[in-house]
Amino acid sequence: MTGWFVYQGSGAPDPGRIDSLPEPPPWRAFDAEPTPYDVPEIDSATTRRLGSSAPLLPVQDSKALQLVNAALYLRRPMLVTGDPGAGKSTLAHSLAYELGLGRVLEWPVVSRTELKDGLYTYDAIGRLHDAQLDRGGADGISEDVGRYVKLGPLGTALIAADRPRVLLVDELDKSDIDLPNDLLNVLEEGRFAIPELERIADRRAEVDVLTDDGRRVKVKNGVVRCKAFPVVVMTSNREREFPLPLLRRCVTLDLQAPREQRLAALVQAHFGEGSYEANRDIVELFTAAEADGALRPTDQLLNALFLTQHAVRGQSERQREDLADLLMQPLDHGLR
Ligand SMILES: Nc1ncnc2c1ncn2[C@@H]1O[C@H](COP(=O)(O)OP(=O)(O)OP(=O)(O)O)[C@@H](O)[C@H]1O
Ligand SMILES: [Mg+2]
Repeated sequence: MTGWFVYQGSGAPDPGRIDSLPEPPPWRAFDAEPTPYDVPEIDSATTRRLGSSAPLLPVQDSKALQLVNAALYLRRPMLVTGDPGAGKSTLAHSLAYELGLGRVLEWPVVSRTELKDGLYTYDAIGRLHDAQLDRGGADGISEDVGRYVKLGPLGTALIAADRPRVLLVDELDKSDIDLPNDLLNVLEEGRFAIPELERIADRRAEVDVLTDDGRRVKVKNGVVRCKAFPVVVMTSNREREFPLPLLRRCVTLDLQAPREQRLAALVQAHFGEGSYEANRDIVELFTAAEADGALRPTDQLLNALFLTQHAVRGQSERQREDLADLLMQPLDHGLR
């Protein structure tokens, strides 16, 4: 049943696997000409989350794995829900790491976020300022407009490339009411226009702009269009419902907080081999505490393990456990 998986959730990098992905379904095929551009390597945002030693066991549960792979095959965005600390944001990093897709394009969403922030920014004031100082170059002000356009994370994810980029649209449920619908259109079409560049397309068909990674890329005729549909991970803490048209176009998956085998793998990923056995008492304290139904995110376990390794070296077992217990308070503690 797992033979068709492109993303295995094993924690082991296997960059060739993405090339074994079959052609998209015809209704999700995008055919822009590939644009040469430089994809930066995975950065510390990813290694910080995943840990430094590869987990020895699969970290995602099997239902989630099937849905993640379905989204990859169907070229659909994933809408990932789950409790705080369940590993929603980390899923995007895990996909980029395992499939060798380079730096994750991160778009954190807040109530003021608009679609345009994700697509591109245009620095009109900077351009005016440079024009006054006559830094427009020989071509004059209208020709150098690309210097003032910077693609955002969503805009960069839609640059035509043979291999997809990973885009994390983090905490979409915090957005203004219009954002999910606006986003829907762009993700459906796999393209967007930059009016400032479209306006001069008859004189300059190709303009160099800056990507979210700080690299240069050519935009043709003022329109950015994708080839390989990006791996889009949209996360939500279920603070609000999403419009049905958005849900219809996404693969939705609910991530359960890691427990047992997956928790062991996670501890080893952050603290090295053998660390799960060495800290079993604290892991058990963490999971046993769940009986009261309170919410304890994984970060608290990681914090407790880190501190007990340093703060109480050489002290009694009891002192270790007391310190861990103090740190692993339920999130809704004091609210009830
Ligand atoms: N596959 C994994 N491998 C290693 N560590 C992981 C993995 N998944 C989650 N973690 C760890 O668990 C912690 C919580 O994960 P994450 O931040 O992704 O949760 P979240 O669901 O996005 O939470 P929130 O809703 O609060 O943003 C992180 O510190 C991360 O390092
Ligand atoms: Mg998160």
